[in-house]
Amino acid sequence: MSTFSIVSGRRLLIAAVFAACFVSGPAVAGMLQDTIARYTAEVTSADKGFTGFSAERGRMLFFSRPATGKPDTPSCTSCHSDSPVTVGQTRAGKEIAPMALSRTPDRYTESKKLAKWFRRNCKSVLGRVCTAMEKGDFLTFMATQ
Ligand code: HEC
Repeated sequence: MSTFSIVSGRRLLIAAVFAACFVSGPAVAGMLQDTIARYTAEVTSADKGFTGFSAERGRMLFFSRPATGKPDTPSCTSCHSDSPVTVGQTRAGKEIAPMALSRTPDRYTESKKLAKWFRRNCKSVLGRVCTAMEKGDFLTFMATQ
């Protein structure tokens, strides 16, 4: 009996954590914080002196034109527009919702989507994947916009 109640109690906890992942609103900001915490752990494991992500470095990444990627996508702004708060456009002309969290509150909440687009877009613009530092800086910038 006691074994049974421990098991079912644990199930309940797992179900509650699971359910929390699908709630929108304040939970969204919490999930972005979790993602940033993951990148923090990744950076810290290689650099013990790491003091935190920088919105300013994230801003510089967003506007930079590194000239190491594909010629038709010189910058993140090539698709995401010249401002985090305005609508962007794919090369094919499809609308992209603003990157600023204030304008598109459900952004950066699906880790698979996030990983896929970071990988693809960093390769297009920088010619390589972004580092955990760059990703953390970028999200920190967008969270303040
Ligand atoms: C060729 C066009 C293009 C370029 C250039 C581009 N992006 Fe994107 N990006 C997209 C599209 C399309 C999506 C997916 C649609 C959406 O999220 O609204 C996306 C989504 C993302 C996402 C996922 C957002 C989320 O809600 O999870 C991130 C992060 C991102 N881009 C970062 C960048 C960064 C950083 C750069 C520059 C290094 C960049 N992008 C350059 C087209 C582009």
